[in-house]
Amino acid sequence: MTRYIIQGGIPLSGEIKLSGAKNAALKMMAASILTSDISVLKNVPSIKDVDTMIQVLEFLGVSASFNPDGDLHIDAAGDLSDKAPYELVSQMRASIIVLGPLLARLGRAHVALPGGCNIGSRQIDLHLGGLKALGAKITTGHGYIEGECSDLKGTIVTLDFPSVGATENLLMAAVLAKGTTVIENAAREPEVTDLVLFLNKMGGRISGEDTAVLTIEGVDSLHGAVHEIMPDRIEAGTMLIAAAMTNGSIQVDPGHAEHLGIVLEKLSLTGADLSVANSTIRLTTKGRPAALDVSTLPYPGFPTDLQPMIAAYLSCAEGISILTENVFENRFMYIDELNRMGADIRLDGHHAIIKGVKSLSGAPVRAPDLRAGAALILAGLGAEGETIVEDVGHIERGYEGLEEKLRYLGADIVKEEAVC
Ligand code: UD1
Repeated sequence: MTRYIIQGGIPLSGEIKLSGAKNAALKMMAASILTSDISVLKNVPSIKDVDTMIQVLEFLGVSASFNPDGDLHIDAAGDLSDKAPYELVSQMRASIIVLGPLLARLGRAHVALPGGCNIGSRQIDLHLGGLKALGAKITTGHGYIEGECSDLKGTIVTLDFPSVGATENLLMAAVLAKGTTVIENAAREPEVTDLVLFLNKMGGRISGEDTAVLTIEGVDSLHGAVHEIMPDRIEAGTMLIAAAMTNGSIQVDPGHAEHLGIVLEKLSLTGADLSVANSTIRLTTKGRPAALDVSTLPYPGFPTDLQPMIAAYLSCAEGISILTENVFENRFMYIDELNRMGADIRLDGHHAIIKGVKSLSGAPVRAPDLRAGAALILAGLGAEGETIVEDVGHIERGYEGLEEKLRYLGADIVKEEAVC
């Protein structure tokens, strides 16, 4: 068991360089299955989820390794297996993303059903319904999704909800389908756009990126490509809120402010002083934030992945904030932990009513999931005294060197391997 020990109350200051986006890297690693050529991904973050995706690829018979420059080379030549086993899919739900590429490349797939996770039941009906509409025969049984198809055929798929994963699975299946596919009500997250850019570099013919309607003209084959993964906007938001929590002053680079529109707007409404120049975002805060209401929504709405961090920040606001979670049903698992640190938060369905307190007090807490774990670290940074965050394995799934980066900004945070 690993844990972080944080002495709170130190304002963060300095400049931080962002890592590549986890949620883009994982999808492009899966997309590399679509060609027997070598693909090269740059700026892949060094995190546990990437290690898990490498294991998934290796299980499928794909070789994936980092060269000395840190670029990830993926070679999917040769005979591939169609099986993504439960042992790996259960470690990382996003492994389901190999389903579309396997069907497109092999005409068959045998992928473990991902099951529940800590932030909700997370259905996959939209993934499966879309693949069926493209002509795949999909059945589920004995804990696995079985898919097969001779040819995938272009069609119109209208998603009930702009699911990120379903949009990406369908993109990667449709790119090699016969004819044209249109995905309506597609997710518009920047990571989806980054995947479209990569697929088009591989020879795909996809248009409509950044919009809710993606048009994919199927091609016969794809080739290898080199792509640099976009900076992680969730890491950017996490760092900005960390600085805000501590009344600090930081620069985030390359910050791609256009990916953080509503996040910067909300931070500004709390009283943070923000400026954007070239690709650098600067933030300075002084005093307690003003209370405000936040609702999570698909992009360009406020990202659900930053909901726990903004809750930690608003827990010390002057006034009452209402935080509404609209994307995942079970994303408030960390509230009891924050309340143990002195926050005053009451849950009412998918709303959290946050009565701002003057300050949080350090306490031992447990990270229930990746983003909630990051929020508890932020709470610890802003709190008086010592906070110990247990179960940090969750956090290391998605943040590259979080504690080193925070230490670089002046935080007093150490990682400790607890002896059982
Ligand atoms: C991705 C991100 C995650 C982020 C989320 C929303 C990755 C690896 N993860 O997750 O960090 O929080 O987008 O921005 O990229 N749903 C269905 N049926 C489906 C698919 C989804 O009902 O077939 C529901 C889910 O249960 C959830 C909502 O749609 O309530 C959003 O899910 P989705 O957008 O698919 O998120 P993920 O792709 O799993």
